[in-house]
Amino acid sequence: MAAVVLIGSQWGDEGKGKVTDFLAERANVIVRCQGGNNAGHTVVADGEEFKLHLIPSGILYSDKTCVIGNGVVIDPKVLLEELGYLEKRGIKTGKLLISSNAHVIMPYHWVLDGLEEEARGANKIGTTKRGIGPCYMDKASRIGIRIIDLLDKEEFAEKLRLNLVQKNNLFVKVYGLEALKFEDIYETYLGYAEQLRSMVTDSSLAIDQSIRSGGKVLFEGAQGTLLDIDHGTYPFVTSSNPIAGGACIGAGVGPTRIDRVVGVIKAYTTRVGEGPFPTELLDGTGDQMQANGHEFGTTTGRPRRCGWFDAVIARYAVRVSGISDFAVMKLDVLTGFDTLKICVGYRVGEEIIREFPQSQKIFNKSQPIYEEMPGWQEDLTSVRRFEDLPEAARNYILRIEELTDAPATLVSIGPGREQTIVRGEIF
Ligand code: GDP
Ligand code: IMO
Ligand code: MG
Repeated sequence: MAAVVLIGSQWGDEGKGKVTDFLAERANVIVRCQGGNNAGHTVVADGEEFKLHLIPSGILYSDKTCVIGNGVVIDPKVLLEELGYLEKRGIKTGKLLISSNAHVIMPYHWVLDGLEEEARGANKIGTTKRGIGPCYMDKASRIGIRIIDLLDKEEFAEKLRLNLVQKNNLFVKVYGLEALKFEDIYETYLGYAEQLRSMVTDSSLAIDQSIRSGGKVLFEGAQGTLLDIDHGTYPFVTSSNPIAGGACIGAGVGPTRIDRVVGVIKAYTTRVGEGPFPTELLDGTGDQMQANGHEFGTTTGRPRRCGWFDAVIARYAVRVSGISDFAVMKLDVLTGFDTLKICVGYRVGEEIIREFPQSQKIFNKSQPIYEEMPGWQEDLTSVRRFEDLPEAARNYILRIEELTDAPATLVSIGPGREQTIVRGEIF
């Protein structure tokens, strides 16, 4: 298999960083395709923990080429800080490539993210306030600044001026804020550009060349299916397409090049920020999951909302991304529950629905219909073979496979690289 897309199948934080790191060992190129530093991917390699936001998790292997694709929105300040953090920890970053067509997060995007959230009041999305949405807004309205523009002093000056007229009008006249100054931003960002210049390239071409010469390419998703701007729980979503199709757009690779799609999915469900979540547990059981799974956001530190596994959304993720394999994560966190519940459908008033509804009004009212399964008490973190899992844990995984019609090719029972049960080959 030459090209594998890895995506989040729920609301993000499924463990994509860990699986990317695990699969990257066999890959030549690892590519981030969408999102920005709203992502937080934690990788535990040889007992050491690394937190990555923008740079692909494959960077921990010094011989791999890592690519930040055109679909990513790049905050250059954050990128340079992340490079510094990795170098300080002894990680070589010399093989990082940045797409010249990726859009740049500017200081006014941070301000706008905060202002827009405030304006939403009770309907706030709970964004990460990293400027992600406003940057994608500028991309869609065709006034965005791309990495290639930063590298050209005149082009950058012209585009920045145009943007500042528009943004400062809003800041000053509508919000009564001070105008942002051209010189401050211009000089700072030109400084960033010089530091990044040698990494900037046509990344679509680099990826194509690797695939054509028999290289293995891994596309590392950020966020998750239900946060997809088209297919997620709109408007409580992010501003990009985390589903598998987003990888083609965000990397400049055609769909016929993709051999497999790995859906990373937790053995239960979590969500950060606002929005509907039918299987959410607001009781002691949810607290127990949060504590066992250390469910606090990597990017914002916010506690993650926790709930039972939802097979309706898992099946939906299989549909919209064509998931060929699941990596079921954090099975170890479910140790200690007498009974486990799996949501197999929703009750909406008198009606029972089995598929993720198109209407968010209906999804908001959806009450989970549960199937119960016996839990297990054994610690799973040292298990390395599927057949060595307790019977109840095996049955839980087999039931997930049945309900979603996709094989759980990888099962994760701890944050470490080695804490991975492999049931089939992906690369
Ligand atoms: P991502 O955004 O999808 O990469 O996920 P995050 O890194 O935000 O959150 C997943 C968290 O779970 C990280 O802290 C991982 O180290 C941790 N993790 C990953 N897999 C497992 C697992 O199987 N068991 C446990 N206990 N923790 C895991
Ligand atoms: P990883 O890659 C979990 C959520 C935010 C908010 C919504 C919109 O680590 O899985 P944004 O700042 O993107 O405009 O916020 O999306 N969100 C995530 N939740 N994991 C993420 O990334 C997320 N990235 C964004 O909490 O609800
Ligand atoms: Mg995360």
